[in-house]
Amino acid sequence: MSHLIQVPLQKNKYPVVVGHKILSELPRRLKQAKLGCDAVIITNPSIRRKCAGKLTPVLKRAGYSVNFLIVPDSEQSKSLNQLGRLLNRLAQLDGIGRSLFLIAFGGGVVGDVTGLAASLYLRGIPYVQVPTTLLGQVDSAIGGKTAVDLPHGKNLVGSFYQPKLVFSDLIWIRQLPKRQRVSGMAEIIKYGVIRDPRLFGYLEKHRSRLLKADPKTLSYVIARSSRIKGEVVAADERETKGIRTILNFGHTIGHGIEAATHYSGRYTHGESVAMGMVAATNIAVQLGICSSSVEKRLVGLTQKFGLPVRARGVSAQKVLRAIRHDKKAKRGRLRWVLPTRIGHVVVTPDVPETVVKQAIQACVAGK
Ligand code: GLY
Repeated sequence: MSHLIQVPLQKNKYPVVVGHKILSELPRRLKQAKLGCDAVIITNPSIRRKCAGKLTPVLKRAGYSVNFLIVPDSEQSKSLNQLGRLLNRLAQLDGIGRSLFLIAFGGGVVGDVTGLAASLYLRGIPYVQVPTTLLGQVDSAIGGKTAVDLPHGKNLVGSFYQPKLVFSDLIWIRQLPKRQRVSGMAEIIKYGVIRDPRLFGYLEKHRSRLLKADPKTLSYVIARSSRIKGEVVAADERETKGIRTILNFGHTIGHGIEAATHYSGRYTHGESVAMGMVAATNIAVQLGICSSSVEKRLVGLTQKFGLPVRARGVSAQKVLRAIRHDKKAKRGRLRWVLPTRIGHVVVTPDVPETVVKQAIQACVAGK
């Protein structure tokens, strides 16, 4: 059984399909999305090796031509070089009688570069997201922000370009290493804090099933998270109203930790966000807008999933410097997303630096 969620955009509305072992449903969903017959799957070498054997026959049996374009495994894919390479390869594959559409088959990096290539080639061809990571399924595959990096910074070249379909099958998630799967849980916890106390309670209750990747429980939380992401995106598609900002809960200090550890992978993105959420909640408690019982619940849930709540051995000074750098890059517009209770957050630019420093110190002190 699959869950069907609509990203309720006024124009460009699209479905998110979530379920376990649902690949046989993909051709029908592609047809409903009125895509062409020529699928170009963009993926990385490890997904190609481990997962393509399941996807390709389903598409071929349904009459699609299938070509693969491979990008490197890491953030290296998000470069102008790789983007140019993809566009040239698309031009080679294109021709009379062909109607190309792209499938982003992988995690966030693959999704971002594929979306951008789709938005640029012939001024826009359709694309579909088939995310293979938990983070991809609940976050990066939905929303239409596409980008590559420049040497000056991440995501500096991009577009808003929505996919025609997001197709989230749990078969990919269940074969991920546990650390990667648990990292994705951080973003799911985030949705509970920013919008959905029932989801938060559900996570508290069903932690052990989720850690075992029980298909029914995991499908429910992915579907619920996808719905929240879709609603927030639909309320602020082009990030002009400040509503999407709430999705950044935990990301300010989280990015600071990632930068302070030089994006070395010492802490995954999800782990950094987990620590960032705890630190942001600590800020909210210090400011008196949130009760310490919320911080306690969040710390408890985070730890129950085996996510870190403290970045041991990371320099508070470096984290603070990275946050200041982010603030400068955003032309001075740092927005703190702070919880007032489970299920509700406020956005504020004004947090005294002494309060931020104290929260970071608590976050790295290992106390
Ligand atoms: N592609 C992720 C987002 O739009 O939020």
